[in-house]
Amino acid sequence: PLLFGFDVIHGFKTLSPIPIAESASWDLEAIKNSARVAATEASAAGITWTFAPMIDISRDPRWGRVMEGGGEDTYLGSKIAEARVIGFQGDHLSDVNTIAACAKHFAAYGFSEAGKEYNTVDISNNTLYNTVLPPFKAAEEAGVRTFMNAFNDLNGIPASTNEFLQRDILKGKWDFNGFVVSDWASINEAIFWGQAKDKKEAAYLASKAGSDMDMEGYVYINELVNLVNEGKVKEAIIDDAVRRILRVKFELGLFDNPYKYCDEAREKAIIGQKSNHDAVLDMAKKSVVLLKNDTQLLPLAKSGKRIALIGPLADDDNSPLGSWRLASDDHSAVSVYEGMKAYNGNKLKYEKGVDLYIGKTAFVNEVNINTTNKKGIKEAVRAAKNADVVVMVLGEHGFQSGEGRSRTNLDLPGLQQELLEAVYKVNPNIVLVLNAGRPLTINWANEYIPTIVMGWQLGTQTGNAIAQVLYGDYNPSGKLPMTFPRNVGQIPIYYNYKSTGRGSNRENNVFWSHYNDVENTPLYPFGYGLSYTSFEYKNLKLDKSVYTANETVKVSVDLKNTGNYDGKEVVQLYIRDKVGSITRPIKELKGFELVELKKGETKTITLKLTK
Ligand code: BGC
Repeated sequence: PLLFGFDVIHGFKTLSPIPIAESASWDLEAIKNSARVAATEASAAGITWTFAPMIDISRDPRWGRVMEGGGEDTYLGSKIAEARVIGFQGDHLSDVNTIAACAKHFAAYGFSEAGKEYNTVDISNNTLYNTVLPPFKAAEEAGVRTFMNAFNDLNGIPASTNEFLQRDILKGKWDFNGFVVSDWASINEAIFWGQAKDKKEAAYLASKAGSDMDMEGYVYINELVNLVNEGKVKEAIIDDAVRRILRVKFELGLFDNPYKYCDEAREKAIIGQKSNHDAVLDMAKKSVVLLKNDTQLLPLAKSGKRIALIGPLADDDNSPLGSWRLASDDHSAVSVYEGMKAYNGNKLKYEKGVDLYIGKTAFVNEVNINTTNKKGIKEAVRAAKNADVVVMVLGEHGFQSGEGRSRTNLDLPGLQQELLEAVYKVNPNIVLVLNAGRPLTINWANEYIPTIVMGWQLGTQTGNAIAQVLYGDYNPSGKLPMTFPRNVGQIPIYYNYKSTGRGSNRENNVFWSHYNDVENTPLYPFGYGLSYTSFEYKNLKLDKSVYTANETVKVSVDLKNTGNYDGKEVVQLYIRDKVGSITRPIKELKGFELVELKKGETKTITLKLTK
């Protein structure tokens, strides 16, 4: 029986938010459910295996694939990896609505040098074991049935031919009994890396290293028989790889019925059913992060106000689908304009302002970005003048992030900054809704624009989700899973950095760890996000003052909703190992809980720290 593998990355036909957006929800149940919905649709179309979740930790928003992952933190990333694996695979892989998951890309792809796609990776064992591997271990413990290796090399050895990663760690130490697939023709790339002299040697190295299946490279099918006949590759290696692949097929139930997942009636009934749309809408609202609301422009009044909606992404029904949306229909997202129109009573005026890109290609290159046509700015300014509030939807197009979309400039692309400043001059009451697959550098906006919402690319239900948040039918509770830098020169920038020997300016002089032209702090840190209500933390305490080595520490805090709205808060627990035999980060996330509180309500939250 055949396995049908497909990139079901954030939904199949009905799309949920891009993975980094989902990660901003810190809502593990919702994330699990989103993967469940994706599996339900994909399996109904005959898919048995998804190339997801991508669980590459990355500290570099220049890298376009950060949109696909869980962000910069290994603890949050591990929890999300687990949730996604369980969501895809369900309780029993043989159930007709489950699919095999694939933990990718093994390993360290997120550390591609300088954020440049497919680049070399050179990291220490310290970073490998403390930061990169834990999410993969979590996926393995959650029962993920397959792993995918990666395009990068790791400390001099390509990941696809890397025995240390695949045999020593994954199949050795971790005792993984599923199979490893190469990335797209990545075994062949050992030749371009200069590690193998030809396809035959590449096949030899990869099979020896523990890559069980060759995706699209055709080197196994063409070379392995000869290699075995010549005695270079042991038959036992082939047997082991085949056994691993067959095991997953057995578990999927394909030996009972190879066509088990192929059922046109089921496909018709399930794909796009209402409950799927409800689920992705729910996930989309939970993914929104409120970055700034200084003058309480949000939530918007549902009637009476004149609103100008401006920006190239405001009425876009394609970009919000994000990258990796292979089975969805083009232009099938609800645009922000459509979503806001549903709120009757408002006088809503839409102006595009400027085009974000020119050219018909679906894949946006920087050369396609509009930097010349400013014609629409005048109309946008006129609309802003006649409005009480301006909502601007700006940012990256959905195809500006994803695979092969590394960027060195993270400012608003094209003429959008100029549009923003022109509108601000006539009406500063601006709610800026940012769309992007990664953190952007938005210093000017942070300084002048009173209200900023991180809206990512939220999938099929984008416009409805954004509208419900803007009009206060949903109180945002998302927290950033990745640091927003002040400028690109700060990258890599992340919250769990090392103190260094000169981390603060004790002498008030120049010889400490800093830049001369920008603060050390980020624009918005990891874990940051506001709500329409406010919260107060009190009575932080530990259950005891002395612990034996194996005891669990219980940390509690009283959390009070002190504002005017019911709302949700993510209580986050960070620790610091103050004195150790190796250097440790200044803080590390080790627990969190998403808490719902009515206005005025107080709850005591207890988080546990194990040894
Ligand atoms: C990507 C993988 C993906 C594969 C199959 C590759 O280019 O790196 O993540 O699963 O293509 O589409």
